[in-house]
Amino acid sequence: MAMAALETKTFAWHDGMLLGYAPMDAVHEEFVLQIDVLLRAPAPAILDALDALAVHAREHFSDEEAWMAETDFPARACHVAEHAAVLTSIEGVRRRVAAGEAEAARRLARALADWFPGHADYLDAPLAQWICKRRLGGTPVVVRRRIPASDPVVNA
Ligand SMILES: [Fe+2]
Ligand SMILES: [Fe+2]
Repeated sequence: MAMAALETKTFAWHDGMLLGYAPMDAVHEEFVLQIDVLLRAPAPAILDALDALAVHAREHFSDEEAWMAETDFPARACHVAEHAAVLTSIEGVRRRVAAGEAEAARRLARALADWFPGHADYLDAPLAQWICKRRLGGTPVVVRRRIPASDPVVNA
């Protein structure tokens, strides 16, 4: 079917996803990897991949919520609500996959791949900037290109 060709088959991390707070960026890279693993998982591996994603998501979201609390981030409600909705979806899909509906896991992975960039841009990025301002005294400097060591401008 034509629709199938448009469906997300992989989800790859790229530097455009960096937000400038290194612990959050590391968690996000892992999240993207876990989604990709679930997207590609052969049928016998789907349940394990889904469980690994669930463990990751709980830690990922609880880390961010702890950072919000520690730094008195002012606008938490929307962000926490999105996290909670994702965890609820994962739990629901886990039950359906355990009942034999493996395709639900792939649909979830595609939905998360669609959801994550917007969540990162609109909710995680302001948190990253807030933490950097609070902890480092400035907005994050995001270096998205690797500059060769031989670059004459850098080494001047
Ligand atoms: Fe996040
Ligand atoms: Fe988040």
